[in-house]
Amino acid sequence: MYNSKILGLGYFVPENVVTNDDLSKLMDTNDEWIQERTGIKERRHVIKGEDTTASMGVKAAKIAIERAGIDKDDIDFIVFATLSPDYYFPGPGVLVQRDLGIKTVGAIDIRNQCSGFVYGISLADQYIKSGMYQNVLVIGSELHSSGLDMTTRGRGVSVIFGDGAGAAVLTREEDKTKGILSTHLHSEGQHAEELSLIAPGMGKRWVSDILEDNDPEDTSYFPHMNGQFVFKNAVVRFSEVIVEGLKANQLEATDIDMLIPHQANLRIAQFIQRKFRLEDSQVFNNIMKYGNTTAASIPIALTEAWEQGLVKEGDLVVLAAFGSGFTWGSAIIRW
Ligand code: COA
Repeated sequence: MYNSKILGLGYFVPENVVTNDDLSKLMDTNDEWIQERTGIKERRHVIKGEDTTASMGVKAAKIAIERAGIDKDDIDFIVFATLSPDYYFPGPGVLVQRDLGIKTVGAIDIRNQCSGFVYGISLADQYIKSGMYQNVLVIGSELHSSGLDMTTRGRGVSVIFGDGAGAAVLTREEDKTKGILSTHLHSEGQHAEELSLIAPGMGKRWVSDILEDNDPEDTSYFPHMNGQFVFKNAVVRFSEVIVEGLKANQLEATDIDMLIPHQANLRIAQFIQRKFRLEDSQVFNNIMKYGNTTAASIPIALTEAWEQGLVKEGDLVVLAAFGSGFTWGSAIIRW
């Protein structure tokens, strides 16, 4: 048995900045409302045709592989987390294998939305722990902007989400006191529809129905979110899964050097910070710049924190996520 550790990190966000004022030209919203409720000032949107979920993932992965100081052919396995795949199938993992020109290693796609990257890290960790693989590439990438309802009807959802990608290379660590100490995953499908995108989905509509009955009022093609219900569940589950991870390693909140919460909403992160009595320097937030990038949010934030020297050797780093499913999870890492 080995441990796994993060050897290289990278992220990519599209250049196109969309401010709250830009959105208020498309829908009945305003900068004050968005900042007060979510903390978001701006987000990035792909210019149509310039990037996809897979291509952004590839760009982030290239940086992570280079920083890991390994060759792409040293990658033994690819894990790709997204809710916005380029194709219904195949998933984007194989597109990364193709576009990075990696040899024919396995590629798996994770469908756990905002928790996707933590699920991905957990999966990679198990493969490395067991000795099956040495270097695993984990990507979280999202192209939300192509699928949002950019009218007033969709404002409760559309102002929150942004595009981007983050990636990590995990590798074998012989020292059992270092690297990923534990991961903790959960789901509660009872609330599946509270934050969801129902169509296209084989359960909702047959393709022939879509072709025959293209109803402009059919909002099932847009994400749906019961915002307040999601918020209430998020604060509880974030807290629970952080406590679970700390307890599993006989650690206390005071031991946390850096908490990287999934960037769902600045208010959720602030609630968690207060609950665990963490200083500003112990929590990293960048939702102000990028919005909620779902599976990409933790690897983008972790990369930025690392680039700014806020994640250092020996630090206790906690990743925590909550999202659609509902799913939630944490990873406790000794850097
Ligand atoms: N701009 C202006 N007004 C808006 C708006 C927008 N973008 N979106 C909704 N509103 C309006 C609503 O229509 C409603 O108007 P009404 O009172 O006239 O009916 C009012 O603002 C309040 O709406 P509500 O949905 O109750 O707001 P809220 O305080 O719950 O805030 C969220 C909405 C989405 C910001 C909040 O619920 C939230 O952050 N939830 C968690 C979301 C999340 O983290 N999702 C990702 C999980 S991984």
